[in-house]
Amino acid sequence: MFRLGPLELQSNLFLSPLAGYTNLPFRLVIREVGGVDLCTTDLVNARSLLERNKKALKLIETNERDRPLAVQLFGSVPEEMRDAAVDLEQRGIASVDINMGCPVRKVCRVGGGSAMMTEHEKTAALVKGMVNAVKIPVTAKMRLGWDDENITAPDLARALEDSGVAAIFVHGRTREQGFSGTVNLAGIRKVVAAVKRIPVIGNGDVTTPEAAKKMFDDTGCAGVSVGRGAFYNPWIFHQTRHLLATGELLPEPKFEERIRVMCRHLDLMVEVFGEEHGCRMFRKVAPWYAKRFGPVNEFNKKVVSIGSRAEFHDVLERYLRWRQQFCDGDGLLLPRYALAPMVASFMQDPASAQRQSVPVPKGPVEVW
Ligand SMILES: Cc1cc2nc3c(=O)[nH]c(=O)nc-3n(C[C@H](O)[C@H](O)[C@H](O)COP(=O)(O)O)c2cc1C
Repeated sequence: MFRLGPLELQSNLFLSPLAGYTNLPFRLVIREVGGVDLCTTDLVNARSLLERNKKALKLIETNERDRPLAVQLFGSVPEEMRDAAVDLEQRGIASVDINMGCPVRKVCRVGGGSAMMTEHEKTAALVKGMVNAVKIPVTAKMRLGWDDENITAPDLARALEDSGVAAIFVHGRTREQGFSGTVNLAGIRKVVAAVKRIPVIGNGDVTTPEAAKKMFDDTGCAGVSVGRGAFYNPWIFHQTRHLLATGELLPEPKFEERIRVMCRHLDLMVEVFGEEHGCRMFRKVAPWYAKRFGPVNEFNKKVVSIGSRAEFHDVLERYLRWRQQFCDGDGLLLPRYALAPMVASFMQDPASAQRQSVPVPKGPVEVW
């Protein structure tokens, strides 16, 4: 059980927002696989939401199987952020998260995203306005700071706690770091130490259950949030819960299970976005599942041009036949093609951590 202000959650593991990816179909897949409770949308512009912009409304599309849901807002105009939070509460959204980590120029220029981390008083006042206007929890997601000389997260977290936020999500990197370098667990620990009552949820490069456990152990955080790791491995939440509860590491999901979940993901994409658009969007999703398939060229080459569900299944059938040459009689990859287990960056030596950093998916952003 995890308490987020007035909200009781069944898991202390969270899905991080990934703009362009954490849409309704992906969240439903993650929920069906299990281990997670609160999931978050992509970031949504507060003003666009108030203007009933079609794209913004599509970003908050949800259904009864997608509960509890947090919507992440960005913006720097206090009245707009407040009114957008009220609007979301009225729509039955469980929690509102504020983006304070986005390093993209377009967002920072108007005083949103990471720019919020440089102006504590202004940010605290904006947050207070939101907290006072709604009963649902308001949380903040930040990086450690702007750069190494300005590690502002601990001070900001303390100020936001006083303003009434229910939790802090912190990606253990600075804005300047983008996605390079190792996640700074000591930095997350400082944020944990800075607040008095509210939970701090650690984030960054958690790609395995062991990495989630290390983040809990080394930082004292109350929860862990996973972004790209869930894209590689939608089973990560279930596996982590099992590891934390029993000390036992579950085996990686079988190839057949990966295929089943990938097909389910496509079905949900088609359900939510329609066949043509859903399949088009799935072109960039399928290769993420394929990262753990073993030899995969044949699949990746073809799947990037699918236009219908039938075409996808045709590509898949052909791939399954092609892949047999790399398997033994039981359909298991021959040892020389088996993949090395994944190891999170902060569990490797620094040199290989750089080499094997978690890929950053293409998205509407340069860096996050
Ligand atoms: C493609 C992409 C899109 C992202 N979109 C958002 C976003 O909308 N809001 C946000 O707060 N963080 C966003 N992030 C940052 C992630 O939520 C997360 O903090 C970061 O990826 C580190 O965690 P991870 O290693 O588990 O992915 C994005 C990251 C990526 C790679």
